[in-house]
Amino acid sequence: MRIDDQAFETLIAQFQQRVDNALDYWLQPDSINPMRLHQAMRYSVLAPGKRVRPILVYATASALGVDLEKVDGAACAVEIIHAYSLIHDDLPAMDDDDLRRGRPTCHRQFDEASAILAGDALQALAFYIISHDPKMVADDGARLKMIENLAMFSGSRGMAGGQAIDLAAVGKSLNIAELETMHIHKTGALIRTCIQLSALSASNLGETEFKALDSYAKCIGLSFQIQDDILDVTADTATMGKPQGSDSARNKPTFPSIIGLKESQEKAQELHQQALLALSIFAEEADILRYISAWFVQRTH
Ligand code: IPE
Ligand code: IPE
Ligand code: MG
Ligand code: MG
Ligand code: MG
Repeated sequence: MRIDDQAFETLIAQFQQRVDNALDYWLQPDSINPMRLHQAMRYSVLAPGKRVRPILVYATASALGVDLEKVDGAACAVEIIHAYSLIHDDLPAMDDDDLRRGRPTCHRQFDEASAILAGDALQALAFYIISHDPKMVADDGARLKMIENLAMFSGSRGMAGGQAIDLAAVGKSLNIAELETMHIHKTGALIRTCIQLSALSASNLGETEFKALDSYAKCIGLSFQIQDDILDVTADTATMGKPQGSDSARNKPTFPSIIGLKESQEKAQELHQQALLALSIFAEEADILRYISAWFVQRTH
């Protein structure tokens, strides 16, 4: 579909609304025991995040002509893994932050034990949804591949591994290759799974198309985290809904701290161009993905 700025905004809003409805469906009500745990889960997941990962799931599905119903489960699963990663990322043992999505972090609003358990239970819920959702692909083999994919990209060789690298790097000066490895894992991995889950939902997708989409995903996964590092320097707490300056306060190696702000912005732009190049085998049906790549490097929160 050929789109313009206005159509992009509309689509993004529709995808956000769509995943919010689906998340509300899958999360246990606050009134069910153990209530405090269910409250903490809903509090963090339904807080106003950008829903970037579900948007990627839906955008890839629409580019490939996959019915959005078939990927609602994947969209929820990736957002729920993301929400769990944020809850744990904010804990005192990790980044020790008090503000997330404009609200007190989960451990501040509830308590540390509830935040740890909410993260644990959310991770399990993501895998429950993706193994259970009846609207997803009928083929059990494809479903199993999706479960494996999400597990790989969120585990010790993916997001959780990236978080381990991040924590080990506090106070150290990494070289560019090490910094990229950290970002590719802690943030890039989950972004790759968003696109691959939709690609796995498409019947008869060729190897070339799959690889092109994965190259795109790798570029935007890195540019997304570079922009996150940049915003930690240039944005303000109110706009971001999370504390500005958290990285420098904790002595974290980031793109701006290692290569400088201007060079970081250039690097993000280069990755955007590479992402566009990766999509060159697709026609206008991939415009939405092109817009998303631009959004990732232009965003202000
Ligand atoms: C923040 O992710 C953590 C990173 C991986 C950079 P987002 O910027 O997607 O956060 P929300 O979901 O909009 O709150
Ligand atoms: C978080 O990176 C990555 C994950 C949560 C996996 P950051 O620590 O930079 O994220 P923010 O800035 O707190 O959102
Ligand atoms: Mg962190
Ligand atoms: Mg953090
Ligand atoms: Mg950050």
